[in-house]
Amino acid sequence: MSKIKVGVLGATGNVGQRFVQALADHPWFEISALAASDRSAGKKYRDAADWKLGTEIPEAAADIEVVPIDAKKVDADIVFSALPADLAQTIEPEFAKAGCIVASNAAAMRMEKDVPLVIPEVNPEHLGLIDIQRENRKWDGCIITNPNCSTIMMCVTLKPLMQFGINSINVATMQAISGAGYNGVYAMAIYDNVIPYIGGEEEKIERETLKILGTFNGSEIVNADIKVSAACNRVPVIDGHTETIWADLKSNPTPEEVRNAFLNFNPGLSDLPTEPKYPIIVRDEADRPQPRLDRDMGKGMSVSVGRIRDGIRYVAMGHNTVRGAAGASVLNAELLHKKGYLWKRSHPQTSGGLPGKFPGILRIFSGLLFIVFSSSFFISVSSFFFFRSSFFLFFHRLLFVPSFPCVPSLFVFPGSSALFSAAARSTFLFSAPVFNRY
Ligand SMILES: NC(=O)c1ccc[n+]([C@@H]2O[C@H](COP(=O)([O-])OP(=O)(O)OC[C@H]3O[C@@H](n4cnc5c(N)ncnc54)[C@H](OP(=O)(O)O)[C@@H]3O)[C@@H](O)[C@H]2O)c1
Repeated sequence: MSKIKVGVLGATGNVGQRFVQALADHPWFEISALAASDRSAGKKYRDAADWKLGTEIPEAAADIEVVPIDAKKVDADIVFSALPADLAQTIEPEFAKAGCIVASNAAAMRMEKDVPLVIPEVNPEHLGLIDIQRENRKWDGCIITNPNCSTIMMCVTLKPLMQFGINSINVATMQAISGAGYNGVYAMAIYDNVIPYIGGEEEKIERETLKILGTFNGSEIVNADIKVSAACNRVPVIDGHTETIWADLKSNPTPEEVRNAFLNFNPGLSDLPTEPKYPIIVRDEADRPQPRLDRDMGKGMSVSVGRIRDGIRYVAMGHNTVRGAAGASVLNAELLHKKGYLWKRSHPQTSGGLPGKFPGILRIFSGLLFIVFSSSFFISVSSFFFFRSSFFLFFHRLLFVPSFPCVPSLFVFPGSSALFSAAARSTFLFSAPVFNRY
């Protein structure tokens, strides 16, 4: 299978670099475009990006020329957006209109009614909103978003607790400085300090959680009936958001039952390349999880939990630019692929207004045709051999001694040949749109 062409918008930034790192050796995706501001456009990526990660700048990206953020100049079927939110608000719809699948990290579109806000382990069924979005907006492409970094960590841990019924959640976050972008917080402001305010963050956690844990009823998301209250703090940690969570659960489970729910949590995705083996890792030590020790668990995609106590109270921790940003978007794109939602930008019409379901039906139909095709071929060949003697005898006996056994070959052989040709033709016709999809 050829790899899917992907681009990164905001590729030179903090999250953009994480995207490049995650996509460089991806088994399904290949980087075909890197876009950033006019400051970076025209330069090789290695010169434009002030590479800040602890790995070498990937070969697959280093020599790519950075292009401006323009749908006509970005040659990709999926674009991952790591743009500032204000820019994302206008740019992402332009890319969706131009036929791209936009997997966005930015907050701009998350709360739009027809835009899925997805964590694959939590609410994969919300992808159904894509059909509605494309119908509403008449876009050839679509936008799918992942939540705010703190919301992701918390919701991954809330999903297994939903079995106990959730009344309310209180959360206090201790968020890493990388969450504000490389130049987002001055060293003098954060060193030896805690800042008890992150603009807009508390509202995002409170809003987004209700949508993510809500129910998709086939046409919209009905928000979860839960009270969420958040208090956010910036702390002098480079990467890794830590959260202390108080969960008021309806059935009053014991800490042991909650621990087991975390341990047994199996989202059943099973074959997505970026999916961690354990979405939740339970730490039993009294002083874990800690960002420096636990943020890279599951290649940065696992959420670690610990200090599970009566109440229910616990601590959750995860890597904010991986699990909370680039890794989350890449996982979303992998889920789209698995669910049959990826199509080539050059052939958006092949998915019609019915992406997702229709290609699935097409695939089944073309599979059925293939069965008809191959079995008619089999019947054709075997009938020839089976009746071979009588087939030749037929002409012989037609002329000389007509007899009964040669009669079936008269019908079976030409009949199966006709079926063969009809099936071949329809397989070609009906599977053509499928080949324009990934
Ligand atoms: N950091 C996190 O933990 C985190 C977590 C979740 C979500 N997010 C979200 O992800 C997005 C990116 O965050 P970040 O931390 O990576 O920010 P960042 O380091 O400041 O990077 C911003 C990127 O956007 C580009 N850009 C900025 N202004 C532009 C303009 N006017 N026109 C075109 N391109 C422009 C920059 O290109 P140049 O280099 O050329 O200027 C750079 O590539 C934000 O929406 C943020 O809220 C971040």
